[in-house]
Amino acid sequence: MNEEILLVEDDASVRSTIVTFLELEGFRIDAVSNTRDAMNRLAERGYPLIISDIYIDDKTGIDVLMAAKHQDPDSSVILMSARGTMETVMAATRNGAFDYLAKPFELDTLLEAVRRALASKIPGDDEAEQEELPESEMVGSSAGMIEIYKTVSRVAPTDATVIIEGETGTGKELIARMVHRFSNRALQPFVPVDCSAIPAALLESELFGSMKGAFTGAERDRIGVFEAANKGTVFLDEIGDIDPAFQVKLLRFLQEREIRPVGSAREKKVDVRVVAATNRDLQKMVEDGKFREDLWFRLNVVRLTMPPLRERRVDVPLLTQYFLSKYNSRYERDVKLTESGLKALKDFTWPGNVRQLQHLIERLTILAPNDRIDAEAVHDAISAMEPGGVASETLAETEADQIRRVLAATGGNKSRAATILGIERKTLYRKLERMKL
Ligand SMILES: Nc1ncnc2c1ncn2[C@@H]1O[C@H](COP(=O)(O)OP(=O)(O)OP(=O)(O)O)[C@@H](O)[C@H]1O
Ligand SMILES: [Mg+2]
Repeated sequence: MNEEILLVEDDASVRSTIVTFLELEGFRIDAVSNTRDAMNRLAERGYPLIISDIYIDDKTGIDVLMAAKHQDPDSSVILMSARGTMETVMAATRNGAFDYLAKPFELDTLLEAVRRALASKIPGDDEAEQEELPESEMVGSSAGMIEIYKTVSRVAPTDATVIIEGETGTGKELIARMVHRFSNRALQPFVPVDCSAIPAALLESELFGSMKGAFTGAERDRIGVFEAANKGTVFLDEIGDIDPAFQVKLLRFLQEREIRPVGSAREKKVDVRVVAATNRDLQKMVEDGKFREDLWFRLNVVRLTMPPLRERRVDVPLLTQYFLSKYNSRYERDVKLTESGLKALKDFTWPGNVRQLQHLIERLTILAPNDRIDAEAVHDAISAMEPGGVASETLAETEADQIRRVLAATGGNKSRAATILGIERKTLYRKLERMKL
């Protein structure tokens, strides 16, 4: 008997489902329920394919992966997890995993991966050392996020230009930082530039620098972002907002990797990687003639499209727990989430995506009655954070009370308080005046 596939899965029902399914498809499977048995099998012989869960017992699927590659560098390993993170996908990729499936998956997806793996042998890398898996700043184990991590793990180490698209609050800036952090430039600067916040006339000097006397007010030479970030990464946020004249200059920069400070006659080479982001549909802007097609091609070397939160609701509990423990410790609270509260959070559509969820949890950590987040508290917080919500005049007393509590929690920081309350800072000032605070 010469089994082709070693399956390592501690959950008995998942194990038997996979075994039955793959056997019906004609594969021979050796199934084990723990890493010790897996290691013993792998010490005896190699398998062309190993399918392993990640979190099993005191050892993980990454250990199984390394043992498999040690036994036979040509074997393929498919990892699967319901709790994948940027770091686990990174570790999997670095150690030569063939694929990484986010649980739950369709059996056909597994079958497709198995067929691809058995058809193509990928050389392994047994040099790689075992790493501790640090806690991730980027939360989410949904299939959509795992796809993002996979792409990042492949492109981060290259110098490829990356364009990140996605609705507001989906984590575009966070993922841009991940691209930098997992690149060879990680120890060099990461410089974000919000293209929509800088007046069109100043963007050029901001990015390319300017010479003394180049324009009124230029009293000395000023180094631009591209030069300051030399050897690092420049993050051009809201790239869809740059005007046509600047689009040409940026295009030229991406082609030549040279800067010419405003007022200078000389060009300088710089070595920066560009990661750009936008919440607009750039392709549509190209079709409408609002964004240069040639610039779009230059930017669109690798495209990451961040999935909106409503399309990955399985991440809502993870994100909620993550933010809740963060704000509980920041504000020294012990607020708990009830089942109805979690259900309400899962059912909401999250037009503001992760950022909205984050602000909502921060607000609830400070304001939730009885230190409990239940469905009612969630609904109240959502309507309060919608425009006009907290402003309701009939609730003047509750409102004043909430403002006091939030200001106390933020140590009097008014812009933080306004964010948590879901109102603009000037609205908060007006209300404080009325409250005579
Ligand atoms: N997957 C995630 N895990 C943890 N925190 C996240 C995640 N995604 C987003 N956040 C947090 O949500 C907030 C918004 O994220 P970010 O600024 O990256 O969004 P964005 O897509 O750039 O939004 P915008 O288009 O409005 O600029 C940040 O505080 C970020 O840390
Ligand atoms: Mg952003």
